[in-house]
Amino acid sequence: MEANLTAVAAQPLALWGAGALAVVAAAATKGRARLMLSRAKHRSLAGHARMSRRVAGLIPAWSYDEQRFFRADAAPDEVVRLRQAGFQRLSALYRERFARTAALTKEAATGLSDLQFTGSYRVPFQFSRLVRENLSAGSFLAASDGVTVTDLDGNRFYDLAGSYGVNLMGFDAYKRMIAEGAAQVAELGPVLGAYHPVVADNVARLKAISKMDEMSFHMSGTEAVMQAVRLARYHTKRSHVVRFCGAYHGWWGDVQPGVGNPTPADYTYTLADMSETSLKVLATRKNIACVLVNPLQALHPNSGAPSDSALVDSSRKAGFDKVAYAAWLERLAETCRANGIVLIFDDVFVGFRLAKGGSAEYFGVQPDMVTYGKTLGGGLPVGVLCGRAALMKRYRDDRPVDICFARGTFNSHPYVMGAMNAFLRALDTDEGRVLYEGADDLWNGRAALLNAKLAEAGVPVSVSNLSSIWTVGYTQPSRYNWMLQYYLRAEGLALSWVGTGRLIFSLNYTDADFAEVAGRFVKAAKAMQADGWWWHDPAVTNRMIRRSILKEMWAARRAK
Ligand SMILES: Cc1ncc(COP(=O)(O)O)c(C=O)c1O
Repeated sequence: MEANLTAVAAQPLALWGAGALAVVAAAATKGRARLMLSRAKHRSLAGHARMSRRVAGLIPAWSYDEQRFFRADAAPDEVVRLRQAGFQRLSALYRERFARTAALTKEAATGLSDLQFTGSYRVPFQFSRLVRENLSAGSFLAASDGVTVTDLDGNRFYDLAGSYGVNLMGFDAYKRMIAEGAAQVAELGPVLGAYHPVVADNVARLKAISKMDEMSFHMSGTEAVMQAVRLARYHTKRSHVVRFCGAYHGWWGDVQPGVGNPTPADYTYTLADMSETSLKVLATRKNIACVLVNPLQALHPNSGAPSDSALVDSSRKAGFDKVAYAAWLERLAETCRANGIVLIFDDVFVGFRLAKGGSAEYFGVQPDMVTYGKTLGGGLPVGVLCGRAALMKRYRDDRPVDICFARGTFNSHPYVMGAMNAFLRALDTDEGRVLYEGADDLWNGRAALLNAKLAEAGVPVSVSNLSSIWTVGYTQPSRYNWMLQYYLRAEGLALSWVGTGRLIFSLNYTDADFAEVAGRFVKAAKAMQADGWWWHDPAVTNRMIRRSILKEMWAARRAK
C-alpha cells in the first residue's frame, strides 16, 4: 500500500519536479532575454525611453536673471561686460531690423500654440526668457527666391533651414512644380475618392525608383510610418516595433516612446544603433514585427535631433562614415531576413536627397519597405509607403474579415499627385539626372572649406555633414554656443528653430552662393568670439559644466 502510495505520489511529484524545472528554465531564459534587452539599450538617457520621461517630469524650471545670464560659467568681470555690450548691440539690431516680423510673431503667438512652443525651445531653458525678450527675430516670411528668403521687413537671408528637408531642388523649382501639377489636374479639381490618371503614372515611376511592388499614399511622413508598422504587425502577427536610439520617425506615439509622448509606448523597443547586442536581441526575441531605420542617424548614431535647446555644453558630436554605416545596414538586413522581421527604411528625410533610389541605392542595402515624404510631394504635403506585394496586402484571402485598415480623406489628393508628378518628371530631365552626380564630393568639399576658414579664424566651431545635411559642433567647452544662431541671423543666414544643430542646403546652391554663406558664417563666429561668449576656463570640461547644471537643478528643486 505504502509502496503503491509512494508510486502514486511519485508521478505527480516527478511531474511537479519536471514542471518546476521547466518553469525555472523558462524564467532563466526570460531573465536572459531581459538582460540582453537591457544590454542592447544605449547607455544615454535617450536610450531609456521610460526613464527619460520620468526624469523629464522631475526637472524643475529655473531661469537666469540678468546677473547670472552673462556669467553662468563664472567668467571674469571684463568678459561679462563684453558679453553685455554685445547682447545689447545685437538686441538693438534685432529690434530695428526685424520690427514688423517680430511684432506679427508676437501677436500671432497668442493664438498659435506651435509658435509658443518653438519660440520657447530655441535655447537652453535657463537662458530662454531674456533671449525671447531681446532677440526676437520672428517666424514670418514674405517671399522666397533662389536660395534666399525675405522677411516682412524686407531682409533677405540665405536659407539654411531647408524647409525641414523638403527643399531639395530650390524654392523656384517647387513653385513651378506646384503650378504645373495644379494645371495638370485642374479639370478634375479637388475631387477625392476616385483618382486622377496622374496617380497611375506616379505609381509606375515610384515602383521603378523604389524597386518595390506596391505603394500607398498618405498625407504626411508620420502616417506613412504608421501604415508601414501596422502592415508589418499584421503580416508577421507580432507586436513590437524596434527603433534605434535617437531616431525620429514622426510624432506618432509608438515611434516616439520617450519625452514628448505623454503615455508609454508599450510595444516599442528602443535599441542602441550600430550595436552587435541589438542584433542579438533581434535574433532571439520572437515578438518583433519590424525594425525602423532613419538613415539620417548615420550622421549622429544614437543621438536625437541636435537642437540648440539641448546645447548646454559642447559635447554634441557628429561625423559620417559611409562604409561603416553601410556595413551595419547589411548586417541588420541579414539579421532581419533570418528572423522574419520586416526591415523598413524611413526615407522621409533622406530619400531623394542622397540618391534618386534613396538610402537603398546610396548604401547598397535593400529593405522590405520604404517610406517617403517631404520633397516627394513637389512642395505639397505627402507621405508614401512602398513595399513588397506580400507585405502591402491589406486583407487575407482565407480570412476575409481579418483586414488591415488604412484610409485618410486626403490620400492621393489630385493637387498633391500633380505636384508629385512634376517632381518625379523633373528627376528624369537632364537637370534631374545630374542632380546627384558628385553631390557628396561637392558637399564634403564645401564642409572642408568652411572648416578650414573657421580654423583659420581661430573660432571654436566646426561642421560635420551627411552630404547636404549639416550639423555645427563646438570644439571647446562652453555654455553659450547657442548664441551663434543669433549672430548668424544678424549676418543674414536663416536657420530653423532647432538652431545650429541642423543646416539643410538645397542642391541649387552655387559655389558663389556657398562662398557668401561661408564668409558670413565666419564673420558671425568672429563677432561672437569678440563679444566674449567663448571665453572659457581651460580647467573646465563638458562634464564639469553638466555637473554644475545638475547642482543648479537640485537647488531649484529644493527651492520649490
Ligand atoms: C525620418 C522621418 N520620418 C518621418 C517624419 C515625419 O514626417 P511628417 O513631418 O511629414 O509627418 C520625419 C519628419 O521630419 C522624418 O524626418
